[in-house]
Amino acid sequence: MIYSEFNNAFLSCLNRYEMGQICIVADKNLIRHKEWMAARPLQELPVLWLKVSEADKSIETVMQIWDFLLEHELTRRGLLLCIGGGVLTDTCGFAAATYKRGIDYINVPTTLLGMIDASSGGKTGINYRGLKNAIGVFANPVETIIYPGWLTTLPSDQFLSGFGEMLKTGLITNCQKREGSSLWERLLQYDLDTMEIQSLTPLIESCVSAKEEIVNTDPHERGLRKILNFGHTFGHALEEIQMNNEPSKWPHGYAVVYGLIAELYLSVVKLGCPKAPLQQLTQIMIHYYGKPQCKCSDYKRLIDFMKQDKKNEHADEINCTLIRAVGSPVINQKVSENEAKEAFDYLFSL
Ligand code: GLY
Repeated sequence: MIYSEFNNAFLSCLNRYEMGQICIVADKNLIRHKEWMAARPLQELPVLWLKVSEADKSIETVMQIWDFLLEHELTRRGLLLCIGGGVLTDTCGFAAATYKRGIDYINVPTTLLGMIDASSGGKTGINYRGLKNAIGVFANPVETIIYPGWLTTLPSDQFLSGFGEMLKTGLITNCQKREGSSLWERLLQYDLDTMEIQSLTPLIESCVSAKEEIVNTDPHERGLRKILNFGHTFGHALEEIQMNNEPSKWPHGYAVVYGLIAELYLSVVKLGCPKAPLQQLTQIMIHYYGKPQCKCSDYKRLIDFMKQDKKNEHADEINCTLIRAVGSPVINQKVSENEAKEAFDYLFSL
């Protein structure tokens, strides 16, 4: 749900729980934005401030949250408010879903990426032995509170990262506003030079409701939900290689945009998708995201990584979601090594 006033949103949710049974876990960086705690009931709630980098998405952090909940004697009727970006909401959601066999939690995403993707759909989890999101459960938050006001202080690379996931949503959904433009067309019209929040809010709303419709139909990713992986087979591989070459240079949504370019290229070549969305996204990439760097020697690692992708149903094959046209995704598309190399050639030649 999107709220224009943060405290009101909180107050109405809190009414459903006993005051002594609510705990907050919040990103340490938000201490400087403490005005959100101005509402009296919030000031009285215990807060655990957490440092949240990808390395903190760990069992140690989950144990810290369990200890905090135990210390405050939360019962199964308790509530955990999780305030922060995707790493924090994924980790806290997992801690809540496993504490005393599961307590209610509410996500309050403070980044655009968190609002668009991580905070809804119930994927919770942590990294384990170097594998991203290897341990986790599906557990939906009782509510997701989206307050676009958080975005006014978001660094521009984080903004673009979230916008990358919005572009993906626009490519896979065919939701049309009453006046007739598709979500993709409305995203193309958004002015990324200003990153203005008011005109972004209806786009956030459309992306969130598109995702909710998909995950409500297929909560456990047996079929339809795989369309959300468009751009992610190539994107995750690029993200992995880049993290090993130069730690944390691109936020996740940049890798998604690069992956979308490669997978749109394959959509054109293999499924006859019109070239327009590939050309439109290429322009956006060059203008705002920059070109990804990669050495020829990285190709083998990229291909090996894609073959091991945990989303694959069979070992040793590359499996992608592609599109026949904007709003017309097709899951489980096999891609040969040569086709994958051709897509990377296209991406790195831009
Ligand atoms: N991030 C993709 C999904 O929630 O399925």
